[in-house]
Amino acid sequence: MQIADRLSKIPPYLFMELRKKINKAKADGVDVISLAIGDPVEPTPESIIDELCRTARIPENHRYPTDEEKGMYAFREAVAAWYRERYGVTLNPADEVLGLIGSKEGCHHFIFACTNPGDIVLMTDPGYPAYRASILMGNCEPYSMPMLPANDYFPIFEDIPKDVVKRAKAMFLNYPNNPTGACGSREFFKKAVAFAKQNGIAICYDNPYSEVVFEGQERLSFLCVDGAKDVAVELNSLSKPYNMTGWRIGMAMGNPQIVAAISKVKENTDSGIFNAVQFAGIQALKQENENITRMLGIYRKRRELVLGTLKKIGIDFKAPKGTFYLWIPVPKGMTSLEFTDRLFEKTAVVVAAGPAYGKYGEGFIRISLTVPDARLKEAMARIEKEFGG
Ligand SMILES: Cc1ncc(COP(=O)(O)O)c(C=O)c1O
Repeated sequence: MQIADRLSKIPPYLFMELRKKINKAKADGVDVISLAIGDPVEPTPESIIDELCRTARIPENHRYPTDEEKGMYAFREAVAAWYRERYGVTLNPADEVLGLIGSKEGCHHFIFACTNPGDIVLMTDPGYPAYRASILMGNCEPYSMPMLPANDYFPIFEDIPKDVVKRAKAMFLNYPNNPTGACGSREFFKKAVAFAKQNGIAICYDNPYSEVVFEGQERLSFLCVDGAKDVAVELNSLSKPYNMTGWRIGMAMGNPQIVAAISKVKENTDSGIFNAVQFAGIQALKQENENITRMLGIYRKRRELVLGTLKKIGIDFKAPKGTFYLWIPVPKGMTSLEFTDRLFEKTAVVVAAGPAYGKYGEGFIRISLTVPDARLKEAMARIEKEFGG
């Protein structure tokens, strides 16, 4: 029996060693606090659960989903209305919107929709690890565009070698950004559209944190700038705004050709989202925007707590304004892994080491704010005790 070569190209999971240590510590009775995973702990709002239960009882919803891989029209209409209302973007639900099993699924299908084996795919580094994995599974070549604090975490397109640009057929962009928390800007979007047009590059703008922004930062869709729909598909998700990570529902919007190509991949891969989940999704998009405001209030307080603690232990930096992550420089003279190891050994607090997100992640750690308040307070108290003064 053979296992596909493409899987062996996917880099090993950097948390493996740490996970072993965590499991051992837990078995020894240590009270481990993990700040490593970005997954809201607050429950999905009641009305969304009610709508799932109501529609799950309707037998016709037990069959293959309506409109299968595209998503039901009513869901696509709700997405279009949400985009109009929240980002001022007009979308035609007929051919510019597609239902997805989360935005992660869209990233993967984008590769199969827009590239051929051997193509280069540009991606930001540090970046969401699933991009690299999908690029490699598509037998394409990832090219890392450095995301550096000195450039406000924007890639510099002019720095990409000409021969790379020539072979590049697709690009992942993601703001508000995981892991750095950096936010996009209209000016950058215009640059990206011009670069993509000039070089025949399809953009996958992954935007699942579009609603998680702080301190007056504008909520943005990539599709809000002229010409974006000529070159880009945007992915979004109900996972983060409505605490629905486990429900697996998201959407792709934008260029009708890319949307149709992703739909074709889906048609031959899965049969769409359970109708009852789509009805629940419509309920979320239409009725539960209050949840977004509530969650932002919660994350804002946690963010202030972490930034306050970091300041007290001598790590003072200007955090970007998006996502529920904080991308924090490690103390001078230590690598990311040395710092995460020391943190774990001394405080039993687990954070993500920067290199897990790419080579340009060295020198940073990522803290996620999706932990209950009491646990975060406890983690910060331990850190202050260990590293303070
Ligand atoms: C940048 C980015 N894209 C996509 C996803 C996946 O989101 P979804 O739950 O919609 O698949 C995540 C989840 O953490 C993410 O950080």
